Amino acid sequence: MDEQDEIRIAVIGLGYVGLPTALGLADLGWPVAGVEIDEKKARFIAKGDPPFYEPGLADLLRRGLDSGRFSVADDPDAALQDATVLIVCVGTPRREDGGADLSQIDLAGQAIARNLNGYKLVVQKSTAPVGAAERLRKGIGAAAQPGAQPEFDVAVNPEFLTEGTALDTFFNPDRIIIGADSPRAVALLSEMHRPLLERAGKPPEETLLVTGVGTTEIIKHASNAFLAAKVSFINMVADLCEATNADVADVARAIGMDPRIAPAFLKAGIGFGGSCLPKDVSAFIHVASEHGVDFSLLREAERVNLRRPAQFTGALAQALSGVGGKTIAVWGLSFKPRTDDARDAPSIPIVSALLRDGASLRLHDPQAMREFQTLFPPNPPSLAYADSPESAAEGADAVVILTEWDDYRSVDLPSLRPRMANPLILDGRNCLDPAAVRRAGFDYRGVGRR
Ligand code: UGA
Repeated sequence: MDEQDEIRIAVIGLGYVGLPTALGLADLGWPVAGVEIDEKKARFIAKGDPPFYEPGLADLLRRGLDSGRFSVADDPDAALQDATVLIVCVGTPRREDGGADLSQIDLAGQAIARNLNGYKLVVQKSTAPVGAAERLRKGIGAAAQPGAQPEFDVAVNPEFLTEGTALDTFFNPDRIIIGADSPRAVALLSEMHRPLLERAGKPPEETLLVTGVGTTEIIKHASNAFLAAKVSFINMVADLCEATNADVADVARAIGMDPRIAPAFLKAGIGFGGSCLPKDVSAFIHVASEHGVDFSLLREAERVNLRRPAQFTGALAQALSGVGGKTIAVWGLSFKPRTDDARDAPSIPIVSALLRDGASLRLHDPQAMREFQTLFPPNPPSLAYADSPESAAEGADAVVILTEWDDYRSVDLPSLRPRMANPLILDGRNCLDPAAVRRAGFDYRGVGRR
């Protein structure tokens, strides 16, 4: 194979990261085979149905399948043999002790070891603690045919996709980090990214950073941990704003005007959730403690975040003089807008606490209700799902906003007000305009806002 002409790619794991990555690479022109262990999921994808909601993904999948550049492997072993670059995009969930469970990477390594029929570049894209790529390299070496001299490299190429805008972050990356210790691996990964770098229209060195494998693993964890710490920082400040009748939205806006601070990730609210930030903060703390390094700064960021849901339900209970027997409309269940993903969402502890305290809940989310029902099946009258935000709020004692979907900004509040038993809105994402909500006759409370 001429590496400069065609890089055949296999992507192992077609989840929230693997599928957009595989389709993005196919769209850039590379032949990509997707390897998915979950047969039902694989069948859906092969038919052109993405198994989760991500804006633009269904079209990209259709395009990939129609062009023939993307396919779902019927025979995973053959797909691994056929490819030169094997991108590992499997899950690294949180273990009970806070560390990362690397068993799915181990399994991928075993499958790769069985199919080493020539040089392979194994790319760890799954987020994993420093040392994981070295463990993968050793695992593949140990599992390869006895006596064989397997020829492969292990590199790390983290993803910086954000759910809800995954395709935009894939096609317009603000950075591409290649962690590789061999020139061949660096050359192959640089070539694979060439179409993206060309599209960027700026010198490649402004986007591309090549460094060591372990350094790259730390870059990924440090990136997510920094974002998480920023959110916890503003949430801590929000508490002081609330105690002193100040406004955290103005504080965030003003400090964000300083380019050294920057405005992103300064939205106060019910805390960060999702499958990445909480898990990665925890894994970063865990790996630091294994190396005897004091990460108490990050531990505190994690603690601030863990307290957010209880503070929020406490504020609701105070506003309603207790939630027992009250009907609460919950707007938003996903961990953020434009995704159906509710993994580790703050809505989970909030809904649990409200049910425990005897509230009746009417839940609404534009995309995440199906997933949420697997955790909280409908159980009328204490738990019901509504097909619109307005019907969730019908007769309710309060609306709580847990995800800042645009749908909630466009609700006609003046006409909603008389349909509620008590016109209270507790905005856990500070996504509504307080003055407009009050003008519509509501008692409005945000987080850390006057
Ligand atoms: C995060 C990172 O932002 C991505 O760069 C990274 O690639 C990805 O994890 C990953 O490791 O795969 P994601 O989990 O999609 O992306 O979500 P974020 O946009 O980071 O939001 C995380 C949580 O923080 C959400 O619950 C969001 O509501 C919350 N958040 C975010 C705030 O509470 N305030 C903010 O100002 C920003």
